[in-house]
Amino acid sequence: MDKTKVGIIGLGTVGSGVARLLLDYGDRTGRHAGRTLWLEKAVVRDLDKARDCDLPAGVLTDDIDEVLSNPEIEVVAQLIGGLEPARTIMLKLLESGKDVVTANKALLAQHGPELFDRARELGRSIAFEASVAGGIPIIANIGQCLSANQIESLFGILNGTSNFILSEMHENGTAYADVLAEAQELGYAEADPTMDVDGSDATQKLAILAHLAFGARVDWQDIPRTGIDNLDVADVQYAEEMGYTIKLLAVAQLVDEGLELHVSPTLLKLGTPLAEVSGPFNAIRVIGDAVGPLLFYGAGAGQMPTASAVVADLIDTAVGRTEITFKTLELWSNRQARVTANDY
Ligand code: NAP
Ligand code: HSE
Repeated sequence: MDKTKVGIIGLGTVGSGVARLLLDYGDRTGRHAGRTLWLEKAVVRDLDKARDCDLPAGVLTDDIDEVLSNPEIEVVAQLIGGLEPARTIMLKLLESGKDVVTANKALLAQHGPELFDRARELGRSIAFEASVAGGIPIIANIGQCLSANQIESLFGILNGTSNFILSEMHENGTAYADVLAEAQELGYAEADPTMDVDGSDATQKLAILAHLAFGARVDWQDIPRTGIDNLDVADVQYAEEMGYTIKLLAVAQLVDEGLELHVSPTLLKLGTPLAEVSGPFNAIRVIGDAVGPLLFYGAGAGQMPTASAVVADLIDTAVGRTEITFKTLELWSNRQARVTANDY
C-alpha cells in the first residue's frame, strides 16, 4: 500500500493523541485512505519532557528544519497553540510545499484570511475540523453536508472547559477554582485558560462557524462576549432553584438587520437538550431552511476525541479530499454579512 509521510509540530495533549492513533492504528488509516499514514517526524521544544506516547527512535526532534526540508513529508499536523510562532510556522510549512492540518482556532480566527489566501496562492490546503468542537464533525457538516441550505441559526456550547466547570458546579457543588485546575490537568483547557473562561475561545470558534455558515468574515474581537469567570456555585444553585441551569452559549442567527452574534452565560431550562450537555461535551443546534433543526453532540475537548478529528483531516488530505471545505471558503470570501450585537 502507498504511504503518505506525516509530520507533527507539537506533541502535547492533542499531538500525543494524534501520534498514538497513527502509530497504533495505521491499518485503520489505510482502510479509509487506501494508503498508510506514516509518522516520520514529531517536533517539540523540549526533548527531555515526558510524552504521552511511545515514539520509534529518530522520530522526535526539536529542529523544525527536519520537517521543512524533508520533501518526503507531504502533510503536517500543526498542533501548537497561540498566535506566534504558530502563524510563522504555518506559513513556512505552506511555503515548503506541505499541506497543513490544524486544531488551532485562535490562529484561524485571528489570521485565517491571510493563511487561507497564502495556501490558495501556493496550491496547498489547510484542514481544520479539530479547531471547533473537538471530536464533533461540525466543520465538514456546515461547510459541506449542509451546502444546499441557507443556515438560519446556530446555537451552541463550544467550550469544553467552561462546560466542565459549570457542570461540576451544578452537579457536585465544586468550587470554580478547583474545577478549573482539574480541567487543566485533564488537558481540556488552553495553555492559558483565560481564553476558555472569559469566552474568547468560544467566540473564536463562533467566528469560524459564522464564516462557513453565513459567509461572514467577522473579527472575533468585535463579537460581544461574556465568560463564566464571574460566576460561582451560588449563581448556579440559584438558577437550579428556578428550574434552570447556566451554560456558556454561542449564538449566530440571521435577523432582519443582518447577523446577530454573541457569546454569554445563558439560563437554559432543565431537561432541554442543551441544558443536559455535561462535562467537556459540546453541542450545536443548527437550523437550515431545507433540512430543519439538527443537533450535533459529543466530546468538545480532550486528547483522543480531538485527535480523531485531526487524523480524519490527515486522511482526507492524503487522498485530496480537503478541496470541498476549501472551495466553500473561497466561495464565501466576497460575501459580507452585517453584524449586529445583542448583549443580554
Ligand atoms: P499543549 O498540550 O500545550 O501542547 C502544545 C505543544 O506544542 C507542546 O508539545 C509544545 O512542546 C509544542 N510547542 C509549543 N511551541 C513550540 C515550538 N515553537 N516549536 C515546537 N513545538 C512547540 O496544547 P494542546 O492542548 O495539545 O493544544 C494544541 C492546539 O490544539 C491548540 O491550538 C489548542 O487550542 C487546540 N485544541 C486543543 C484541544 C484540547 O482538548 N486540548 C482540543 C481542540 C483543539 P513542548 O511539549 O516541548 O513544550
Ligand atoms: N480549550 C478548548 C475547550 C479545547 O475547552 O473547548 C477544545 O477546543
